Amino acid sequence: MDAFVIHGGQRLRGRVRIQGSKNAALPLMTVAILTDDEVVLHDVPRLTDVDNLASLLNTLGCRVRQGEGNGPDHGQTLHLRVEDPTADTAEYDIVRRMRATFNVLGPMLARRGKAVVSMPGGCNIGDRPVDLHLRGLRALGARIELDGGYIHATVPESGRLRGARVFLGGSMGPTVTGTANVMSAATLAEGTTILESAACEPEIVDLADLLNRMGARIGGAGTPRLTIEGVESLHGAEHAVIADRIEAGTYIMAAAVTNGDVVIDNCPVDALTAALDRLVEIGIEITPVESPLDRSGAVATGPASGMGQSVRVASRRRLNPITVTTQPHPGFPTDLQAQIMVLLAVADGNSIITEKIFPDRFLHVAELLRMGASLVRNGSSVLISGVRELIGAPVMASDLRASAGLVLAGLGARGVTTINRVYHLDRGYEKMEVNLQNLGARIERVKRPAV
Ligand code: EPU
Repeated sequence: MDAFVIHGGQRLRGRVRIQGSKNAALPLMTVAILTDDEVVLHDVPRLTDVDNLASLLNTLGCRVRQGEGNGPDHGQTLHLRVEDPTADTAEYDIVRRMRATFNVLGPMLARRGKAVVSMPGGCNIGDRPVDLHLRGLRALGARIELDGGYIHATVPESGRLRGARVFLGGSMGPTVTGTANVMSAATLAEGTTILESAACEPEIVDLADLLNRMGARIGGAGTPRLTIEGVESLHGAEHAVIADRIEAGTYIMAAAVTNGDVVIDNCPVDALTAALDRLVEIGIEITPVESPLDRSGAVATGPASGMGQSVRVASRRRLNPITVTTQPHPGFPTDLQAQIMVLLAVADGNSIITEKIFPDRFLHVAELLRMGASLVRNGSSVLISGVRELIGAPVMASDLRASAGLVLAGLGARGVTTINRVYHLDRGYEKMEVNLQNLGARIERVKRPAV
């Protein structure tokens, strides 16, 4: 099992390019099931989550192959095409590894009339139910039963789902992958579907963009009300995945925690408004700079490239304490909560973080305490009293974003930090240690016996 060994205290300097978004790429891959034609995706990040979903799609008769195109810094191009539309079961062995695999349910149901998908189960960041996914699909007329840990879903006798008005909000707000699942299914339904309280995340907008390219008629993406006029069939399309806002936020904070000076290329600033607001309040300088030439030879700057700008991040003094509340987009993303906690742990005063998406997503707290942070958890909030410095220690990665937080802590800490179980990081960050080495960090990947 791999571990990272980090010698902290090196100021990060240089440039890093942000990869395609994991959470956009995964649902984009699943909608290849909706057509017999080829779907081509560019800028797909090289991540274990992507590999796992590709394996699942292969078992479902949708062949995923790597294409030419995209250089080493630009992710991979994937070609997806259904070769055998008869497979209908997404097995537990793959679905349990990552929840995004549950998003094959809507496309399979809509296109094949039937789907058997393992219930995903809980994970380290909380219970994570799928009741809203099922509520939405039931509203479209699907018959859904749970048997032996599997969801068995079938379309009505007419052979097609039917459009409906669906309220998709839950007690914790909208659901991102639930919106993706129901929206994808509704593209092939008979009649019009209106999804109220839909997720507004940029990844949903990206998915709607691809589906519309495939011939779907989706309006309102990025707002809480989606209108989907069902069509008879969808065709193939080619699409480039948006840049990963969470990776960008993570590298911005890596620069800040080391008092570094880093240019982040392909930064989706338009998708990071709330995070940038908080980071500027903390005292980080974030300024737009000229981007390198893009593939067509043009300089990608200006408002049109708000999803792929270059920004310079600099931080030269102690950070200010602030309050942060995670919320659905456009609020502060839960996927950056662990990382900002690390910055606040060394800020000059007391801060409060409140988690409103996953109230138990605090596994990093115990590990940060081992590094000398002063944190008190009270329910879904953590009170943070800034300390002068963190001190390196052996710590355990527990989930993807908690692990990213621990890497930041190690980069900023005095001494050596060993992070065990970095396979969590490989699910969502492509070559993280290489990127950080290129920025001057002393970080290496080592093989460790399992702990
Ligand atoms: N919820 C329900 N019922 C449902 C679905 C969700 O009550 O049927 C609740 C959840 O328990 C949670 C809230 O609604 O309290 C929001 O969950 P959501 O469904 O939006 O989360 P998700 O779609 O399962 C995606 C990302 C997560 C990210 C969340 C929130 C993907 C593949 N995953 O999960 O990403 O934290 O949205 O923004 O897109 C990560 O990348 O590390 C990650 C965990």
